[in-house]
Amino acid sequence: MKRFSLCFLFSAILFVGSVENTSITYVTSYLPKGVIMTTSDIHKESINVLKPLIFIFNEKNTHNLSGIINEYLKKQITNVFIVEYTLNEETTKAANKVVNEVAEFIATIFNKTGEEYLNIHLVGIASGSRVAFAVAQRLPELTKRKVNRLTSLEPTYSLINNEKGGPNAEILSKNVNFVDTVHSNFNENETRLGDVNFYLYKKDCVHDKSLSKNSTLSLETFVKSINSNNLKALECDSIENLENGNCLSKKKIVFGENVPQDAKGSYFLIIKL
Ligand SMILES: *[C@@H]1O[C@H](CO)[C@@H](O)[C@H](O)[C@H]1NC(C)=O
Ligand SMILES: *[C@@H]1O[C@H](CO)[C@@H](O)[C@H](O)[C@H]1NC(C)=O
Ligand SMILES: *[C@@H]1O[C@H](CO)[C@@H](O)[C@H](O)[C@H]1NC(C)=O
Ligand SMILES: *[C@@H]1O[C@H](CO)[C@@H](O)[C@H](O)[C@H]1NC(C)=O
Repeated sequence: MKRFSLCFLFSAILFVGSVENTSITYVTSYLPKGVIMTTSDIHKESINVLKPLIFIFNEKNTHNLSGIINEYLKKQITNVFIVEYTLNEETTKAANKVVNEVAEFIATIFNKTGEEYLNIHLVGIASGSRVAFAVAQRLPELTKRKVNRLTSLEPTYSLINNEKGGPNAEILSKNVNFVDTVHSNFNENETRLGDVNFYLYKKDCVHDKSLSKNSTLSLETFVKSINSNNLKALECDSIENLENGNCLSKKKIVFGENVPQDAKGSYFLIIKL
């Protein structure tokens, strides 16, 4: 019973709220607590253009970001931006506000630094994935430049199954060079949005066929990969093939942050809870 309840994960964060306020916090090793930044604070010297610019999208008070921030700072990524927003009632329109704000923020960085090439990596957590996807779509309209990479940690149901104008793999591949996703649970019917889609396979939960998701698990597992190449995921297209051993001869790739960016396909990372 105890084991079952551990496996009975859930994540019901849907993107159906209006945006109350957005904050963009810039974190560096010198300012580990971060400073709130607006477009008017962006100057040529305030960004290290030689390093990737990481934007982490999180609905306020949903996930503890101290792990992901610390690991990125440890990796010497000097530009970490935390985008947090709050949602209240139902309106997707209001979400455009945060999308525009962030896209303009990034466009201003391009403008102020005068750089043709900046390495932009968007990391969306749960509903933050949807904001990140929309920013990736908006940015080329403003700057004619593409996002280098978009990592979605637990794309939400409403995101992947939204047929009405929601992002899909085709739109994404036009606007982003490389898309990777991490799911805490495998669902054969979900659209596979990424070039690489990782699925966490919980060893003690072989009978857990529920589709419940746990974005904290996806986030925490990804955090472990930022400064390590030790987590390896096995290529496989279904739980059945994984469990029957049909994938044992398939290739393994590094899971998470350091995934080779020419990789494609679905991969399972076996974890113990
Ligand atoms: C977030 O996690 C860190 C490290 O695990 C912990 O020290 C901190 O208290 C947590 N913050 C919150 C608000 O729970
Ligand atoms: C930044 O924007 C201003 C006003 O739109 C424009 O005149 C200027 O050329 C831009 N600078 C760069 C480096 O793109
Ligand atoms: C996937 O879709 C098929 C056909 O609609 C359905 O029979 C099946 O139960 C679905 N599987 C899951 C895991 O939802
Ligand atoms: C989700 O995963 C985290 C991290 O492994 C765990 O602490 C938490 O209990 C899980 N949540 C649920 C609802 O099982």
